[in-house]
Amino acid sequence: MTAVQETGSAPAEERPIGYGRLKRKEDPRFVRGKGHYVDDVQLPGMLHGAVLRSPLAHARIVSVDTSAAESHPKVRAVITGATLEGLGLAWMPTLSMDTQAVLATDKVRFQGQEVAFVVADDHYAARDAIELIDVEYEPLPPVVDARHALDADAPVIRDDQEGRTDNRIFDWEAGDEGATDAVFARAEVVVAQHMLYPRVHPAPLETCGCVADMDPVDGKLTLWSTTQAPHAHRTLYAMVAGLPEHKIRVISPDIGGGFGNKVPIYPGYVCAVVGSILTKKPVKWVEDRSENLMSTGFARDYHMHGEIAATREGRILAVRVKVIADHGAFNGTAQPSKFPAGFFHVFSGSYDIEAAHCAVTGVYTNKAPGGVAYACSFRVTEAAFLIERLVDCLADELHADPAELRMKNLIRPEQFPYRSKTGWEYDSGDYQTTLRKALDLAGYEALRREQAERRARGELMGIGLSFFTETVGAGPRKHMDILGLGMADGCELRVHPTGKAVVRLSVQSQGQGHETTFAQIVAEELGIPPEDIEVVHGDTDQTPFGLGTYGSRSTPVSGAAAAVVARKVRDKARIIAGAMMEVSPDDLEWEKGRWFVRGDPTAAKTIQEIALAAHGVLELPEGVEGHLEATTVYNPPNLTFPYGAYLCVVDVDPGTGVVKVRRFVAVDDCGTRINPMIIEGQVHGGLADGVGMALSEIISFDEDGNCLSGSFMDYLVPTALEVPAWELGYTVTPSPHHPIGAKGVGESATVGSPAAVVNAVMDAIGVRHADMPLTPGRVWLAMHGGVEAP
Ligand code: CDP
Repeated sequence: MTAVQETGSAPAEERPIGYGRLKRKEDPRFVRGKGHYVDDVQLPGMLHGAVLRSPLAHARIVSVDTSAAESHPKVRAVITGATLEGLGLAWMPTLSMDTQAVLATDKVRFQGQEVAFVVADDHYAARDAIELIDVEYEPLPPVVDARHALDADAPVIRDDQEGRTDNRIFDWEAGDEGATDAVFARAEVVVAQHMLYPRVHPAPLETCGCVADMDPVDGKLTLWSTTQAPHAHRTLYAMVAGLPEHKIRVISPDIGGGFGNKVPIYPGYVCAVVGSILTKKPVKWVEDRSENLMSTGFARDYHMHGEIAATREGRILAVRVKVIADHGAFNGTAQPSKFPAGFFHVFSGSYDIEAAHCAVTGVYTNKAPGGVAYACSFRVTEAAFLIERLVDCLADELHADPAELRMKNLIRPEQFPYRSKTGWEYDSGDYQTTLRKALDLAGYEALRREQAERRARGELMGIGLSFFTETVGAGPRKHMDILGLGMADGCELRVHPTGKAVVRLSVQSQGQGHETTFAQIVAEELGIPPEDIEVVHGDTDQTPFGLGTYGSRSTPVSGAAAAVVARKVRDKARIIAGAMMEVSPDDLEWEKGRWFVRGDPTAAKTIQEIALAAHGVLELPEGVEGHLEATTVYNPPNLTFPYGAYLCVVDVDPGTGVVKVRRFVAVDDCGTRINPMIIEGQVHGGLADGVGMALSEIISFDEDGNCLSGSFMDYLVPTALEVPAWELGYTVTPSPHHPIGAKGVGESATVGSPAAVVNAVMDAIGVRHADMPLTPGRVWLAMHGGVEAP
């Protein structure tokens, strides 16, 4: 059991060195508009690319005529599937070991699929020229509803794969089916609920793009790219192009949000590289908003049939679920290879139950590929939503209070580390304290009283709870890899002679503030002020190998690496300090920033003095090299399991179904808190995501597979008007296996909040379930007994 060490809702104290509410080191450049994004890259002679996309969801390509485009005076190259076929590049591997068409050759398989790429002198000419390409299509019937993808008469989408006769991608299960069925058979109460977690989109502010520069002289490719995983991308390019890694440099400069959307490799990147090879000039390609929404990695699209078994007294016994997962036309998810449904098998959530089982079937449909998850949580978002909705359905069935029902069933502190029924080992937690804190912050009892009074007046007020457990920090190499690349992260730390340091990370920030928090980790370990520590990231030529930033893995994996490498430097500093003071290193003790002689605190050497000596003429002990630096590769022993208790209060207009989120209380536990201000920012953003998904966001299609959500006029992300002032609290339960006890937090709020909002709306309108997004129309229909088709 790990005790909760700290709880609070007020800002933690400011501390000059190490952890605390340090202002973000990166913000001076961002607030002055001096960030440097891919689209800011300008190279001499740079050309511009644009993609011609399919207007149809499913069609055979009869012919592609590029002659008019080629004769455009500003066009330098027109690339088609046939061009790429000649280079052996028409298809590329996806991160899920599927193949994806770079440019379509045989068929188009979703609306918006890449068909041709034009390289021209400027962006406008490239756009104009794609209009001149004449493609003849022979339309085919599309598969739009994933639930019919396996029907006997469903057209086979991936007929490029030899021997394929249907649209099944995988069948995957976790847990013990027999044991779960046995518990269900004897359960007093069983509640079943079908729910769709709709297709949503990460919609980062900056769309995807790159500048590819193949130097025709030294044969080195430099790629400025919107990528969350520069090293993994470089390896993939090396594999596909047959270039050695040292001939490829991937630079991921400032990134305007990723949320998983920038994990996959997109055809546009590959086309820009080919364009640069063909024209011997740098080529920039940046997609527009519609291209981003219609063709890049979406999230969710999980049709879930969940069941929960319990006693009449409300003891939860078992959960089982069957899922049809819509992966679009190419399986482009980014999940560790052994887990095609990601970490969905954390769906038993935060409850101590007897048995659990899930079966997930992945299918192809004529929609954009992806499933990267939004706040790329390896499907934990879907899992948390499922269980937290099921618990509320059970509460409804039992006429039980949802808070009491949760409190009764949460895993108890003394049960940690807790082995879940689907194989996870939750590292630490004190769930009851966190839930109690959320209820107290919200004033739960008073809210229920207010609700009763309002109900008596015919007003629809709802209170929704969710308690989620995340599984983040992928992951132990033994169990987790992407395309065979183990998910360990490298880190290098160098302390210069004057005591300033540079730490090189393999992860890449997309706005999470790594330049600040990773400096803080090193500062805490070495006592060097954070402003004296430069964080280098996002450039494969300058940083050690690692798998990148997604699934809140930076702090659990690279954060651990930063602490470990700093400790290595500290250990070396101890030996050097011993030599400086002519005492045995064993007689030295550490306090932040200096080694001193045990029993005589005045006899000490600071880390800055030691750094200078390490580069000087001091005679060092046998076997100790000069300079003060270290490297490490951190292979996490387990994932970390942050958690939280969320409470949402809504008011629903009985006449229109409009939902107003009045209050939202979020108590998170991410273990040791490096920078509380940054954590709060992460939580604020995630909560806004959650409100958006619950109330307004959906990528929808008509029956022909036309995407109906290709702009921000149709894909409705929440604005400041739709979200309340967040009320945050926290508890601190350190991870026992992480060097500094930190767990990830980046996606916690995105994972935990949608269920709280939906539970609140259902509570307000007295309906057991309605699918997201709870737009006014859907809420109104649900209130009047109707159901809108997803
Ligand atoms: O992988 P990603 O950076 O998206 O997620 P994360 O590891 O959860 O970290 C998000 C931001 O919150 C980073 O700047 C972290 O260093 C910071 N953080 C923190 O200050 N304390 C924690 N316990 C966890 C994250």
